[in-house]
Amino acid sequence: GDGVPPVGVCPAGDLDRVRADGGEQRLTTNQGVPIADNQNSLKVGLRGPTALEDFILREKITHFDHERIPERVVHARGSAAHGYFESYQDLSPITRAAPFAAAGKRTPVFVRFSTVAGERGSADTVRDVRGFAVKFYTDEGNWDLVGNNMPVFFIQDAMKFPDLIHSVKPEPHHAMPQAASAHDTFWDFVTLMPESTHMLMWHMSDRAIPRSYRTMQGFGVHTFRLVNAEGASVFCKFHWNPVGGTHSLVWDEAAKIIGADPDFHRRDLWEAIEAGAYPEWELGLQIFTEEQAAGFPFDVLDATKIVPEELVPVQPVGKLILNRNPDNFFAETEQVAFCTAHIVPGIDFTNDPLLQGRIHSYLDTQISRLGGVNFHEIPINAPLAPVHNNQRDGMHRQAVHRGRVSYEPNSLGGGCPFQAGMAGFTTARSQMPQPPEDKVRGKPELFADHYSQARLFWISQSPAEQAHIVNAYRFELTKVQTPAIRLRLLSMLANVDPILAEGVAQGLGLEVPPPMPLATDAPSPHYEPSPALSLLSR
Ligand code: HEM
Repeated sequence: GDGVPPVGVCPAGDLDRVRADGGEQRLTTNQGVPIADNQNSLKVGLRGPTALEDFILREKITHFDHERIPERVVHARGSAAHGYFESYQDLSPITRAAPFAAAGKRTPVFVRFSTVAGERGSADTVRDVRGFAVKFYTDEGNWDLVGNNMPVFFIQDAMKFPDLIHSVKPEPHHAMPQAASAHDTFWDFVTLMPESTHMLMWHMSDRAIPRSYRTMQGFGVHTFRLVNAEGASVFCKFHWNPVGGTHSLVWDEAAKIIGADPDFHRRDLWEAIEAGAYPEWELGLQIFTEEQAAGFPFDVLDATKIVPEELVPVQPVGKLILNRNPDNFFAETEQVAFCTAHIVPGIDFTNDPLLQGRIHSYLDTQISRLGGVNFHEIPINAPLAPVHNNQRDGMHRQAVHRGRVSYEPNSLGGGCPFQAGMAGFTTARSQMPQPPEDKVRGKPELFADHYSQARLFWISQSPAEQAHIVNAYRFELTKVQTPAIRLRLLSMLANVDPILAEGVAQGLGLEVPPPMPLATDAPSPHYEPSPALSLLSR
């Protein structure tokens, strides 16, 4: 009654209007015409040719011929589930985003987990980054938090994304290898992009072979803004922490499972939900001001950097529970369209140049993947919040708009939608003076420190975990045929830690070459804790 969905409610409930159940029903064509014989085509005599007029056969075959749609250009392999997010408290002092409006408030979600590089039918347990994409069906429209299971990324600028993906996908002449990373083109590219050093450490760590989707962390990766009703904003990093703990496979297990059960993660998620063991994550926020960020020894707009928890603690603000499997993989998991541009009042972007490019990419790719501009009407993508605007027509339009007016302003429409004019939506005020600047292709100076946080990650690992990282690099490099690429990687690792570089080199029978020259006089950061913002109290 008060807008709080009861336990178990999910957008799946709203999908009931489109659910189809053919059990015990008469077989028909797509026009609803009864089909008497579904075994035999219409022939000119029992041994004669098939008649062109057999519209039943033709409809059936034609539909089948067009059953496949393009797979996602990345993250093609995935599995998803319905559930809800429940806020622990009223966060309105820092954000007016609807899911955080009250303690106990529930917002329906649909969550899709994925690998990045493999094709739609590829194996689950390959060494790869995992996607962790959450669609919140909020009272004020859909908010998509399109994250990964690692808190940083390979590149700093969207300009490099097509290059990164071209290097990691199977090589274009023979379409090998299918596994995520073990080939020359990937290692060629990343060793020429020292900014990927930190992400590579995560990628070679146990994080890249999770035990299950249920035991993965998720991260928004970029710095976002939270905005309150007055338009005041703070910076924010999003963290999903699995209540069952973060667990990984070891490489030997992962490699065997690839063969024994390529659906290992998909099966695990499905079976857990069927059994009522609902997977659960806690949402944590790192919240900091622009003034704090200005004092950090790294740039918060750089997606190759974390904000260490020593600097800004992660504060739990709610939980995510997945409690219902999709009814139809294609209709829901395949057709769902996540998009970083889908924000709601109370959430805003920052100028992170990787995020800025993503804001363009998702809608653009989905126009071709899902066929036109009306895929927001596909039931899994449709918001629960009402939609009213003057956008019209396009392929496969579902809505039937009435009246003569599809423009604004107008004096004829009577019931024409009006603009909302609200504070706190893409009107975030910066607390810092912003001097006018010229257009420039380049990057800020702090983006040039590629190694400090890679080292921070290395020293945070236990000896067993460090050994796994060394072994992963060794395995990967034994697959790389070009000697210069191996040496380049070793000189990159020499900037991270001598023991790491030495360990990898030994496994390959190589000497560690001199460290890769630093991109600039990169500053040597010193991590000084700053007081946590006490905006949140529990
Ligand atoms: C999927 C582009 C970086 C997470 C996709 C898709 C594209 C894309 C085109 C396919 C979408 C679809 O067909 O529905 C980009 C670009 C990036 C970028 C241009 C950088 C400039 C990232 C980063 C993350 C990420 C940094 C994590 C924070 C995801 C996830 C999916 C995805 C989770 C799968 C969504 C799903 O489950 O359907 N990306 N991406 N991407 N991306 Fe990115």
